[in-house]
Amino acid sequence: MMRNLVAGNWKSNKSINEARNWMDEMGEAMDKLPKNVRIMVAVPAPYLASLAHEKHPRILIASQQVSANGHGAFTGEFTADMLVSCGVDYALVGHSERRSDFGETDEAVSNKLKQCTTAGLGVVLCCGEHLNERDSERQEEVIKSQLESALQDVTSDDMKNIIVAYEPIWAIGTGRTATADQAAEMHTFIRRWISEKFDLYTAENTSVLYGGSCKPSNAKELFASKDVDGGLIGGASLNSGDFQSLICSFT
Ligand code: 13P
Repeated sequence: MMRNLVAGNWKSNKSINEARNWMDEMGEAMDKLPKNVRIMVAVPAPYLASLAHEKHPRILIASQQVSANGHGAFTGEFTADMLVSCGVDYALVGHSERRSDFGETDEAVSNKLKQCTTAGLGVVLCCGEHLNERDSERQEEVIKSQLESALQDVTSDDMKNIIVAYEPIWAIGTGRTATADQAAEMHTFIRRWISEKFDLYTAENTSVLYGGSCKPSNAKELFASKDVDGGLIGGASLNSGDFQSLICSFT
C-alpha cells in the first residue's frame, strides 16, 4: 500500500471550465510527476460525475461532502451510493469547515463514515484542534476524541479505504503552518492510536495527511517529517502548477 498521497481540496472554488483546464494541465504533466505518490482532488459536487469520467486515470476524485443518511426524503443530500455510481473514489468527512460552519457533529461524522464504508466509498477523515485547544495543550485529547467517535464502528478491513487528515484549525487558510515537529508529533500520535485501536499492520498502511497552509515552499520539510504521508491542500491546490510542485515534494 502506497502511503504517499497529495490531495487537493478546492472547497467552493472554480467554474466547470476552470476545473476542466486544471484537469487538462494535470493530464499533460502526468508523465513528469513521481510515480510513488497517489494524487487526489476534492472538487465541487456539481462537477463530480463529469470530471470522474474526464480525469486522468491516475487522479483519484473525491467529493467534499456526503449524506449521513441513505436514500429517501432528504432534499439536497446525496448519498455515498450515488457518489460511487458516478465514479467517485473518496469523500471528505469531518472537515473543520463542515463541523464549524454547517453544524456537522461527531455523530453525523460517524454516520457519514458508516454510509461510505457500506457503499464502498473511500473516506478522508479530517480531524484537528482549535487554537485555544492547542494553546492549552489539549490537542491530543481533542484528536483522540474525534477519532474514537468517528471510527467507533469501523473494522481494520474498513481502514483499507480510510485516510486520516490532521488539519489543525489554526493553520487552515491562515498562512500559519504547523512546524514539521508539531506535525510529526501529532501524526505519530495518530498512528499510535490507530495501532492500538486496530493493529500495527493497519497503522502502517494508513495514510495520515497534514493539512493547513501547506504550499510548495513548506511541503518538502513537512512531507519529510516522521509519519507525515503527504498533504490535504486547500489554497495551493487551485493552481495546477503549484499542485504539481507539491506532488514533486517527496524526497
Ligand atoms: P489551506 O491549504 O487553504 O490552508 O486549507 C487546508 C484545508 O482545509 C484542506 O482541506
